Amino acid sequence: MSRSLTDPWTLGGVTIPNRVVLAPLAGIGNWFVRLQAKRYGAGLAVSEMVSSHAIHYGNVRTCTELLRIHPDEHPVSVQLFGADPDVMAHAADRVAAAGADIIDINMGCPVPKVCKTGAGAALLEDPARAVAVARAAHEGSGLPVTVKLRTGLRPGDAKGVTVAHELAASGEVAGLCIHPRHASQRHAGKPDYALAAKLVEDLPVPVLISGGLRSADLARDAFEQTGAEAILLARGSLGNPWLFSELVGTREAAPTREEIVTEVNWVIDSAVDHMGEERANRYLRKFYPWYIERLGGTRGEQAVLQAALQQAPNTSKARELFHVYLPAQSHAQAPEYRASGLFSVQTQPV
Ligand SMILES: Cc1cc2nc3c(=O)[nH]c(=O)nc-3n(C[C@H](O)[C@H](O)[C@H](O)COP(=O)(O)O)c2cc1C
Repeated sequence: MSRSLTDPWTLGGVTIPNRVVLAPLAGIGNWFVRLQAKRYGAGLAVSEMVSSHAIHYGNVRTCTELLRIHPDEHPVSVQLFGADPDVMAHAADRVAAAGADIIDINMGCPVPKVCKTGAGAALLEDPARAVAVARAAHEGSGLPVTVKLRTGLRPGDAKGVTVAHELAASGEVAGLCIHPRHASQRHAGKPDYALAAKLVEDLPVPVLISGGLRSADLARDAFEQTGAEAILLARGSLGNPWLFSELVGTREAAPTREEIVTEVNWVIDSAVDHMGEERANRYLRKFYPWYIERLGGTRGEQAVLQAALQQAPNTSKARELFHVYLPAQSHAQAPEYRASGLFSVQTQPV
């Protein structure tokens, strides 16, 4: 029977309306980025990785900002990292109380700051601890637990495959997400979809796939090629929530400039709500290039806009700078933008 990305499925008893998922993205995947993915059709969104220690010790910003869940983003999965089962159990309990539907454990992060604590990809070295951490999250929260992991630490090493088998056999995980690159590759290089397909076939739990899904075609091919239960969009979704709509079949056309600028304004509003004007203004500087890239225009125009946005003293100025990029008819109500002359205004959709 042929499967479709739009088919509903269940993960540990949680019904997920389709098979297109927002991947965990550190420093990015907060409630409003997840909500944005949901607004555009994602069936599930996973949070940025959150330290189980920070939750356990009650770090205020972690517990208020990183555990904030919007009522419209369910089902939502919160990703935790950590290597101490007791700490994980307590943190998982707090995450359940915050309203998460699923907990994902990070066993793939290659960053030394995380690995040197024994967490992230370092857990691939210690299958017994990996299982104990997953069990603790499950028992501590009562929620379904998934694990996102790599296939190994470095080329030629299949430790991730061993850990995947042990986790699946332990009965502690409702599913696994495979990023079929070695941790030493970080996020570069071709994902090994053949290895992922073998895991999909061999493991007794649903296997999701992440890696290299930059466009709708690449995502559909990986879904077909691996037989994965669902796909996780990561870098391909940055500044491009329309990729979710394309994959769930609710739209095909690329967004117009007006739609892009409207979306940027939604992101700015949400970031200000999330962290206040001053911090949002700085935080959003990493978001702007993703949207600028989609606006079209010449490289020179994009560079001018980029430089101006990086220096914008507040988010009102940032909105103004994006507004200049709107088609001429949108400026009819705002002649000050038409008069600014900063950029040549193009009217075609991009
Ligand atoms: C900026 C950035 C942050 C990431 N943060 C996390 C994270 O917090 N947890 C995690 O499991 N993976 C994280 N990843 C890995 C992604 O979830 C994904 O597996 C990876 O980018 C491969 O997908 P892609 O090639 O489609 O981007 C991150 C990747 C990037 C680029």
